Amino acid sequence: MGLDGRWSRIVDTLRGIRYNPLGRGAALAIKICARFTAMTPKTPTLAVEGGAPVRTQPWPVWPMYDEREERALLDVLHSRRWGTRLGVHVRAFEDEFAAFQGARYGICVPNGTLALQVALQALGVGWGDEVITSPYTFIATASAALAVGARPVFVDVDANSLNIDPALIEAAITPRTRAIAPVHIGGRPADMDAVLAAAQRHGLHVLEDACQAWGAEWRGQRVGALGDLGTFSFQSSKNITAGEAGIVVTNDEGLADLCWSLHNVGRIRDGGWYQHERLGSNLRLPEWEGAILRVQLERLPEHMQRRDANAAYLGAALAGVPGLTPLPLDPRVTRNAWHLFMVRYDARYFGGRPRGDFIAALQAEGVTPCSAGYIPLYRAPAIQHALAALDGDYTPPHLPVVEALASEIVWLAQTVLLGDTEDMDSIVEAATKIQRVWG
Ligand SMILES: Cc1ncc(COP(=O)(O)O)c(C=O)c1O
Repeated sequence: MGLDGRWSRIVDTLRGIRYNPLGRGAALAIKICARFTAMTPKTPTLAVEGGAPVRTQPWPVWPMYDEREERALLDVLHSRRWGTRLGVHVRAFEDEFAAFQGARYGICVPNGTLALQVALQALGVGWGDEVITSPYTFIATASAALAVGARPVFVDVDANSLNIDPALIEAAITPRTRAIAPVHIGGRPADMDAVLAAAQRHGLHVLEDACQAWGAEWRGQRVGALGDLGTFSFQSSKNITAGEAGIVVTNDEGLADLCWSLHNVGRIRDGGWYQHERLGSNLRLPEWEGAILRVQLERLPEHMQRRDANAAYLGAALAGVPGLTPLPLDPRVTRNAWHLFMVRYDARYFGGRPRGDFIAALQAEGVTPCSAGYIPLYRAPAIQHALAALDGDYTPPHLPVVEALASEIVWLAQTVLLGDTEDMDSIVEAATKIQRVWG
């Protein structure tokens, strides 16, 4: 009898015991044996091909709330102070979140996109200027530069972090460069030592796109105010959310005042209601969002601990699946916010199947919160059209590292990391099953 047969016999025997009331613990033993059975060379049928999925139970729902958010919303309702002018929650959240990130000032705005725009305006970035940034990011990083009239200049990424490769920044600097905008993608801080050093050498501003990096740390310091300004998003998918919202943080009082003015139709902090000192816009946040965000921020530390533990466990386990490589962590990243858990997929270990097939198979096995992620941003039609309009013509660069990685990376959403150890095991089991069948 082969190995498969032996395990099947053991599982059958234990199944018999399970129905015997005296057979305590047999259910657990069956589970363990079943896992070993799955690890034998026997070829199971993938769920995508009609087999039974590894899991059917749901993943943690997002966003999360309880009676604290309910109470906060009702308090705002009953207070009748629904706007920022007379409200207390947005202001309090600005202080609380800024302090959480190790910054002195915070200015809330309706979303992360506008946070980037306000930050660029405050830094004086405008027509004809260039902003050096990463091509592996959400479109807003580049579209915010375009919205203020500046040109995003894409620099290739580091293969281990998928963040801007600092070794390539200096070659991209021109007399028109005004700022470097590193993105802490997935919550994994970019190499801020090198970014800040390059900026200092060339007299450039640094704007951190920390829209996915709440609580992330670079060498023990929270990101966001390591450069001149930092931006965060609280949109629905984010690790702390009010549905929509964003914030700019900084340690620079002058920049904080400027951002405040820009987000409040050009008013100044102690000025009159109809005293407009510059052109700005109404980017104030309603109190509902401030109230929700304060509660969400209270919940974040515990969620961060859970994500840290699950990410460590999952990373170690997935590294054992041939063809899957979780992105390694730079030891200077003392905390990853884990907005995304990113794994490199090597099709050679999966019978040459493209990444899209793997994602579909993983989803069919019940690992639904997984996806392929970004394309290099300079390939997005919106960016190409905008740059062509600026320059009369646009030939996208070929940045080899981001080109390769953007076609290999698999994302697992942050909600997955709020599950338990069995949830993590189910991901590994599903990936192992697919690899066994295709590999
Ligand atoms: C890296 C990055 N930058 C900017 C943004 C824009 O934030 P928002 O969606 O709140 O406008 C996001 C949000 O998805 C993001 O992930």
